[in-house]
Amino acid sequence: MSKETHLYFTDLSREYGDVVSFYLGNRLTVVLSSPATIREAYRKTEFSGRPRNYLVKLYNPLFTGIVDASYSTTWKKHRHFAVKSLSAFGLGKSSFEAQILAESQHFSNILAIHPMALDPGDFVVAAISNLICVMVFGHRFEYSDKEFQSILHSLRETFSSLVGDRSRDYIPLLRLVPNKFVTKHVTLFEEVKTYIRRQIEEHKRTGKPGEARDYIDAFLTEMDTAKRTDFTENWLVNVVFDFFAAGTETTATALRWTFLYLAKYPEVQERVLGEIREVLADGQAPQYEDLKRMPFTDAVMCEILRLCSVAPLALVHSATEEGTIGGFHVPNGTDIYLNLWAMHHDERLWNEPMEFRPERFLGMDGQCRKDFEAYLPFGTGHRGCMGEQLAKMEFFIFLVTTIRTFSVTFPIGLKPDPIEGTYKLVYEPKTYDLLIQKR
Ligand code: HEM
Repeated sequence: MSKETHLYFTDLSREYGDVVSFYLGNRLTVVLSSPATIREAYRKTEFSGRPRNYLVKLYNPLFTGIVDASYSTTWKKHRHFAVKSLSAFGLGKSSFEAQILAESQHFSNILAIHPMALDPGDFVVAAISNLICVMVFGHRFEYSDKEFQSILHSLRETFSSLVGDRSRDYIPLLRLVPNKFVTKHVTLFEEVKTYIRRQIEEHKRTGKPGEARDYIDAFLTEMDTAKRTDFTENWLVNVVFDFFAAGTETTATALRWTFLYLAKYPEVQERVLGEIREVLADGQAPQYEDLKRMPFTDAVMCEILRLCSVAPLALVHSATEEGTIGGFHVPNGTDIYLNLWAMHHDERLWNEPMEFRPERFLGMDGQCRKDFEAYLPFGTGHRGCMGEQLAKMEFFIFLVTTIRTFSVTFPIGLKPDPIEGTYKLVYEPKTYDLLIQKR
């Protein structure tokens, strides 16, 4: 596949239909591309499993954690516990807004001392990742902290490694041949997990009974008090890893795309700024509630999540038993790709889908409407995004804080058309410099 995977799959669906099946090596694979089939797969428990891939097994042999574990009673308990305790520490809660706001101000301070053209990607990733650090470790890092930078580097590389050479997943014979890619893949995951294990040890040493400071404390307490056999340290390490993996690169990527599109379309940036100034008094901190009075800004966020489809193929699902999708038989063990990209760019469902046009999300009454069958940037159902509310809050508060403080433009002579991206599990923009200057 020389083309980006989501584009290749989209071509297949345009040629063969909304349910396409084929063999990738020895694995039966189904790609879904229409709102009806994608929603049907999200609704059915039998399609909410995860594949037991060779490459995943190398770094997570027991397939624990939220992302890699298949649909099961234990997985449901962990997902439920994670949502419950993370909401106690912030996930999607208004009490966490102060933390998001403070981090967005740190981010602005860093941008202010870098008035030259640069790609703000590394700072965005550090800022968003810090919010997960607060929830799981109970503290944030300075962006210049060497240990933090090294973990973030490894974490980001794990994404590339997951979409790198997957041939060993599909052609078992190849596993017999030693390979540098596989060694690097395992090393990257181990680096991040070693850091998480150190944090767990530190929490055990310093934690006090009944005083959960963060998610790790809450989990350790659950292990101790409830004596739950399915709450092990192995699960803890992998769940924490998942929060970082799923909660950092995704929101950060949405913000990176937004800055690029606002630089490319200054009139859209002006309109967002106008709305911010209309709704918020000078110096008044943004709150997620304010978004209700900022329909155009809301529409810009929705259009970015549609056009740039940060998770274009969601995460691969697996059939845990046989069933049907769109009337087609799907055998047990089939890998299922939900092609959100194809749905978000389907010309039958969206007018000129490749165009950046936030107005498409504005209803006749001027309010932002999101009730499109073909709009599912966070997935839905059993495997829908756990961090949707948190992501939206972060997205909004960082966007408002940045745009009211800085103008975002391309350096003279650079106006990429189109703005190009790369598929690395998330669809992220290529490196582009921006001038981010104080207003
Ligand atoms: C713009 C930001 C984000 C986007 C577009 C996004 C998108 C998605 C999508 C499409 C899925 C579904 C995967 C599937 O079909 O299996 C997903 C799952 C997930 N997301 Fe997000 N996400 C974002 C931010 C976050 C954040 C901030 C967190 C924080 C914890 C998070 C945690 C997760 C987890 C743990 C899963 C796996 C759920 C499971 O396997 O049951 N996401 N996300």
